Amino acid sequence: MNVLFIGDIVGNVGRAAVKKVLPALQSKYNPHIIIANGENAAAGRGITSAIVKELLDAGVHGITMGNHTWDNKDIFEWLDDQPRIVRPANFAPEAPGQGAAIIKANGKELAIINLQGRTFLPPIDCPFRKADELIEQLRQRTRNIFVDFHAEATSEKIAMGWHLDGKASVVVGTHTHVQTNDDRILPNGTAYITDVGMVGSMDGVLGMERGAVLHKFLTQLPSRFVVDEGDWHLHGVSVEIDEATGKAKRIQKIRLTETEWLLM
Ligand SMILES: [Fe+2]
Ligand SMILES: [Fe+2]
Repeated sequence: MNVLFIGDIVGNVGRAAVKKVLPALQSKYNPHIIIANGENAAAGRGITSAIVKELLDAGVHGITMGNHTWDNKDIFEWLDDQPRIVRPANFAPEAPGQGAAIIKANGKELAIINLQGRTFLPPIDCPFRKADELIEQLRQRTRNIFVDFHAEATSEKIAMGWHLDGKASVVVGTHTHVQTNDDRILPNGTAYITDVGMVGSMDGVLGMERGAVLHKFLTQLPSRFVVDEGDWHLHGVSVEIDEATGKAKRIQKIRLTETEWLLM
């Protein structure tokens, strides 16, 4: 089974890029299942039900979230009724929504799990123990398990890759919006990359307009961040999983700029 994962989609610029490029990625990588991180899809903060529909209509089958899950209050009204979204599983047990889901598409079935790190992020339940608990449950249904570990520290993400090697088919990191160059198959068959990257403006700071971000760094004063409207870049990974064993056979980084896209 081929799985395409797209890094944090930032605002209207990121969404427009995904809609434009997805047909070409579909023909090139033949994904059976497409997953995207949507925590910044609504103007850089959270996601709305209209944007969920927009991404699903564009061909995305499952959406993962992160520390921006609750930024848009609209989400409290519909999250429990949306089976294709997962938010970090190690949020408090009372939190709406789900931390894992089974995504079915094109005759294939993939379990997806979202977890959030706790180094340089707010305190939260243990992502390592939560991963073990969920994988034990999900393995009774499928060995094909995809984990989006939304975390800041590279060390915490690498540790999670080792912790889940041989238990999950794929462990990808998100949240930093910067793609790392360490995609590999770990010894026990887990495809791994520390951070997939993002989709959105490449001339801002992590997709947001750089003037406001610089103002905050320079003055330490509150600053309103808005999505940068510059040329986009799109980052993702394509992974091939042996469905019988749940082990990954191949992981390949995807990295495309708007200029490269226009020349294709
Ligand atoms: Fe993000
Ligand atoms: Fe994040």
